[in-house]
Amino acid sequence: MSEKLRCGVIGLGILGSKHVQCLCARPDTEVVAVADVRAEVAQASAAQAQAKPYTDYHEMLRQERLDLVVVATPDPLHREPTVAALEAGVPNVLLEKPLATTLEDAEAICNAVERRGARLFVNFANRAAPMDMATRYCIQRGLLGPVVYGEARVDDNISVPTRMWGARSREWAAGSSTAHFLLSHVVDLLRWYFSPAEVQEVYAISQKEILGYTPDLYDAYLTFDTGLKVRIKAEWTKHIDELVEFYLCFSGAEGTLIYNKLPAFGVQAGWRANLSPKVGMAELLAHQEALVKAGASVAAMFMWSQPSTGELAAGEGQLRPCLEYRGPCAASPTALVGYIIEAIKAASTVAASAPLLGPLPTHLDGWRQTQVVSAIVRSAESGRPVTLG
Ligand SMILES: NC(=O)c1ccc[n+]([C@@H]2O[C@H](COP(=O)([O-])OP(=O)(O)OC[C@H]3O[C@@H](n4cnc5c(N)ncnc54)[C@H](O)[C@@H]3O)[C@@H](O)[C@H]2O)c1
Repeated sequence: MSEKLRCGVIGLGILGSKHVQCLCARPDTEVVAVADVRAEVAQASAAQAQAKPYTDYHEMLRQERLDLVVVATPDPLHREPTVAALEAGVPNVLLEKPLATTLEDAEAICNAVERRGARLFVNFANRAAPMDMATRYCIQRGLLGPVVYGEARVDDNISVPTRMWGARSREWAAGSSTAHFLLSHVVDLLRWYFSPAEVQEVYAISQKEILGYTPDLYDAYLTFDTGLKVRIKAEWTKHIDELVEFYLCFSGAEGTLIYNKLPAFGVQAGWRANLSPKVGMAELLAHQEALVKAGASVAAMFMWSQPSTGELAAGEGQLRPCLEYRGPCAASPTALVGYIIEAIKAASTVAASAPLLGPLPTHLDGWRQTQVVSAIVRSAESGRPVTLG
């Protein structure tokens, strides 16, 4: 492998162009070739990156010796370019989420990875956000006690399925859904926060009242093999100021974590973990230090939560250790790329510089994510719970 990783990018739309910019800005990667079926898009990206443009990625894979191929084609079109890159002998692939929109496509991708002995990372970018790492940290260390219930909703502005991809928007949204496009992120986050727990059963509904060409929303209840239940919901019909609204909350037997990752209106972005009262001062400060060192600049405090709501005062009148962060929480869609490059260069699946990340998302995580999302779609279609093997 040369000193700089020689990269090719397939699919140069919203995300692909961000990948090109990101890889061009790094000292250890160079974009040598780009491919898109839209010739003008390929030309423009190639000019920016001083790379060679292709309209046929097969040709690109024949002509170029590449250390890494990034695939950022629309959701249902991940299989062919990914398998082609792997079959061409590319040793590393970075695939946009979701891994695939069907189990058949997911299986074909995973088989190709294993057959070629290659490495495939899925760009579940939310994992790179410091407050998501902090969420995982608190859950993995039992700081809320055993977590028994959670909820997560990630909703897009209605402009996403109607206008975000210009004249291609309807076709784009019809080829995907809020399950594949949005809940894939949530399913991956939950598996990562609660690892090694896995989703065992899914019950979901969907609705098609507004958009017509794609479901307006999916609302799903996931039961994990630990007994944990999480409700996850994603809409494509919100008339809101922001592009995305993202909220998560987890209830443990001894504490609660509230994560306003991307508020739509009137709520400050922020993160609060009300920890188990068993966590003492020294331990709280040690957790704060670990998180601050990992880039999550949380405040540590003890709160006496005793809201006065008349006779029925809510909450508990108990001194409680807390960790809190107020401010923007979302990571850029390319925030995980640096860690993935670091892992590729070290021939590893972990980034040594980010111990709180744990193993980076590979094809196996993508496979499980596709299984769960496919089960959500099947359950909503059949009106019955779906059990996962
Ligand atoms: N990780 C994140 O946070 C994040 C955020 C948004 C989108 N995404 C994902 O990124 C992927 C791309 O989304 P987008 O919004 O950039 O879509 P897009 O439509 O803007 O870009 C896709 C590009 O692929 C090209 N293309 C289609 N078929 C092709 C083929 N056979 N060969 C070469 N090029 C082809 C299209 O012409 C288009 O330019 C999707 O899977 C999406 O879900 C990820």
